[in-house]
Amino acid sequence: MTEFTVGYFVGSLSTKSINRLLAKALVRLAPKELQMTEISFRDLPLYCYDDDANFPPVATAYKDALASVDAVLFVTPEYNRSIPGGLKNAIDWASRPWGKNSFTRKPSGVIGTSPGKIGTAVAQAHLRSIMAFCNSPLMNSIEAYIQFERGLITDDGQVTNKGTEDFLRNYMTEFHGFVARVYTALPRNR
Ligand code: FNR
Repeated sequence: MTEFTVGYFVGSLSTKSINRLLAKALVRLAPKELQMTEISFRDLPLYCYDDDANFPPVATAYKDALASVDAVLFVTPEYNRSIPGGLKNAIDWASRPWGKNSFTRKPSGVIGTSPGKIGTAVAQAHLRSIMAFCNSPLMNSIEAYIQFERGLITDDGQVTNKGTEDFLRNYMTEFHGFVARVYTALPRNR
């Protein structure tokens, strides 16, 4: 199978983030054809279109990082039934300036975990709507709403529940297949 680079976003900035644990697990379980690299948005200022004509270096570096990957994967918590503000800010930066939307034709996937039973479902629905507007081909299925329980994923990304581990491995296999199908129809132009 073809190799692809995937930039992953961890929607939480917390050092204790359970979504960062999930991202570590996904990196471990990804097929070897997917080269996973984090897209950090921690240092971005709040987006304002006054900066569109002259992006600050941190935003230019962020846009360059996005340009260098074939696909993006969002691993996000749900905050107040939506995505965290920091992640939305990062998406807004990526979408601008007008005509230079970093997500155009770049395939994406969404996954997240929370201690709640619906496992970030509402945040993911919001994020799907945002990424549709950003013209990103988004993997519709499989969906992944992971209810986090203490100890489910170790600090170095080992999944302790066999069923969850198998599910996450299959999610990454499906994501690889999805990215390959997108690029069959839309050849890479970089
Ligand atoms: C939450 N949490 C939460 N959980 C949920 O399932 N739905 C929600 O709407 C919210 N809202 C919410 C708002 C804010 C501001 C915080 C800080 C938390 C709980 C959340 O799922 C839990 O804190 C997770 O640990 C967050 O994921 P990270 O940041 O640890 O990856």
